[in-house]
Amino acid sequence: MSLLIKNGRIITASDDYQADIYIQGESIHTIGEDLNMDADKVIDAAGHVIFPGGIDPHVHLEMPFMGTYSSDSYSSGTLAALHGGTTMVIDFILQTQGKSLHHALAAWKGRANNNCYGDYSFHMAVTDFNEETSKEIVQLIEGEGITSFKTFMAYKGALMIDDGQMVNLMKEVKDKGGMVTVHATNGDMIDQLIAKHRAEGKLSPLYHYLSQPEITEAEASGRFCDMADYTGVPAYIVHLTCEGALNATRRANQRNQNVYVETCIQYLLLDASLYEKDFDGAKYVMSPPLREKKDQAALWAGLNHNKVQVVGTDHCPFMWEQKLMGKDDFSKIPNGHPAIEHRMELLYSEGVNKGRITPQKFVEVTSTNAAKIFGMHPKKGCIAVGSDADLVIFDPNEKHTLSVETHHMNVDYSAYEGWEVTGKCKHVILRGQHAIDQGEVKINKGFGTFVKRGKAKAAI
Ligand code: URP
Ligand code: ZN
Ligand code: ZN
Repeated sequence: MSLLIKNGRIITASDDYQADIYIQGESIHTIGEDLNMDADKVIDAAGHVIFPGGIDPHVHLEMPFMGTYSSDSYSSGTLAALHGGTTMVIDFILQTQGKSLHHALAAWKGRANNNCYGDYSFHMAVTDFNEETSKEIVQLIEGEGITSFKTFMAYKGALMIDDGQMVNLMKEVKDKGGMVTVHATNGDMIDQLIAKHRAEGKLSPLYHYLSQPEITEAEASGRFCDMADYTGVPAYIVHLTCEGALNATRRANQRNQNVYVETCIQYLLLDASLYEKDFDGAKYVMSPPLREKKDQAALWAGLNHNKVQVVGTDHCPFMWEQKLMGKDDFSKIPNGHPAIEHRMELLYSEGVNKGRITPQKFVEVTSTNAAKIFGMHPKKGCIAVGSDADLVIFDPNEKHTLSVETHHMNVDYSAYEGWEVTGKCKHVILRGQHAIDQGEVKINKGFGTFVKRGKAKAAI
């Protein structure tokens, strides 16, 4: 199969130029002006921009969590991602405390393998680090190509590890060539505030927000950076939301240490005023919670100052019925919101089209940096000869409105209902296949493959 894309404006993390792209099989064969090759299919991209397929390194598909499962399966979630220009996701395996990492790996493979439309990989969340788990780290890195290890400093009793386990895990992961990532919030402080609010009968979604003040994230982020500095492990903070936490990572990086930072689209665009709408605020119950306008400003500045390297989604959707599990108690509302489909279009519309970031920065934070940080570059995350032909052909001027009526995610509300967006993914190419043709799906379930990742790099 060969594909020729004519007349497009190619945007990468470093360049912006006019050229044609010739694809043979799964990878990019030639990039040049006025290419004349015979091809099985030709797409005219005149008036469109072409950028690398998005990589969302933070999604939770069909994940067992808070007594239920996130509502997007591997097929519905990766297909929705493709509609929105994300060709690859990294999902999270959760170790069950008391059981092995391989036990969890088998369960996640069982749900994901042969069910994905888009390409995928896993982070391994280590929730119980001990002598046995320690031996599995090298097997996951060398044998499975799972090179990043997620930790939780919150969700005590289910997912949280203590600082002793964290330091020992970091030492082991550094020794074997991996990376440690973190949900950095102070679980004990949060649990104490949750208990206080419940005892006072303060049970609405607003108190989810008030149980996780900025200091709980800033403190844990700083502590995590100190432990990463002490052990020297390559490190990454997921879903960072606020100025205080960002400043904590800045202090750490002054000591010549690289802790990468991911924020998520919702923290750039939505704010805590959404919790004031009674139970409707449950749509935005996620951890950490939405923050203030000043935090949004800090995150946009962080992108432009290279202090924030990645924009993900933390896509973790729940049906309204599931959110209602917490109608009488905010602490029982399953945490998470749906965004896997909208990240690229929202960031282009609100970021590039509104002049907050350059097109190159857009590519960097939606694709290239994730590929580099998580050991997939230059196979993924760039437009270059020999790279996987994962491409988005995008109309930067087309206007549309986000809605539950039109989205493809398996969730019965939209967190972005009525948002006017300028810019639309018209064609999505995944490893040379025309996966999405103006909204029409051209590939089958199971086309998405598991991507084995390489070892962590100290710097990108
Ligand atoms: O609210 C969230 N973020 N749900 C998913 C689990 C996590 O903490 O990332
Ligand atoms: Zn988290
Ligand atoms: Zn998450």
